[in-house]
Amino acid sequence: MEGLPKHIAIIMDGNGRWATEKGKKRSEGHKQGAVALENIALYAKQLGIKVLSVYAFSTDNFKRSQEEVDYLMDLLIYYFNNKLDRVIKDGIKIVFSGRKENLRPDVILAINNIINKTKDNQECILNICLNYGAQEEIVDATLKIHQDLNNKKIKEEDITRESYYKYLYQELPPIDVLIRTGKEKRLSNFMLYQVSYAELYFLDVYFPDFNNQDLLEVLQDYTKRNRRFGDVKNN
Ligand code: FPP
Repeated sequence: MEGLPKHIAIIMDGNGRWATEKGKKRSEGHKQGAVALENIALYAKQLGIKVLSVYAFSTDNFKRSQEEVDYLMDLLIYYFNNKLDRVIKDGIKIVFSGRKENLRPDVILAINNIINKTKDNQECILNICLNYGAQEEIVDATLKIHQDLNNKKIKEEDITRESYYKYLYQELPPIDVLIRTGKEKRLSNFMLYQVSYAELYFLDVYFPDFNNQDLLEVLQDYTKRNRRFGDVKNN
């Protein structure tokens, strides 16, 4: 396909409703969500997408019941330790965005493990946003910039909208396509700096049901959109 996006981001919403509507426990929805993620990461790579960012757990998700938070963390550890073999073998490099504080030590260990295992992979990057908030990311970037200015590592004129990316949790290209599954139409504190010029897609499908065909349809539509970045070209 011509004119594919470099960076796709997905807000993986609707796991809970998917399960509840089927009379299952919410945890079953998260489990199926993880299967859908593994599948979509492999497909995105196969299509030639260079970066896929996904919202796995927000800083505000800690407000959920302890049982659900524990289940999600255990699921992440299980995936990082045992289940992502296909992703690893397929040359996908896994990186993380978010704050380490508040995460359980066993989660941090599993994160470090998978970062290490995949650090030399070069086909495509899977950026997992975990204990992540976009406003927190911007605050953290601002503090790092303040430090670099104080230490005279940079000058004020070095700070531009392009160089700001270096201070985010991961230095990745801007997001071209943002997909939110699960019927809601909001951004929920997700990668606000990086989505400035993204094309937005809000889908009615719950994340566990999100499949290759759904991604393909988004991409087919994206290649037809006229991205002007504030200019009047191609009008
Ligand atoms: C939102 O659905 C989803 C989450 C808070 C968790 C997303 C996590 C996964 C898909 C698993 C990730 C797995 C790996 C390996 C990174 P919701 O619970 O808010 O659904 P609802 O809005 O229907 O209640």
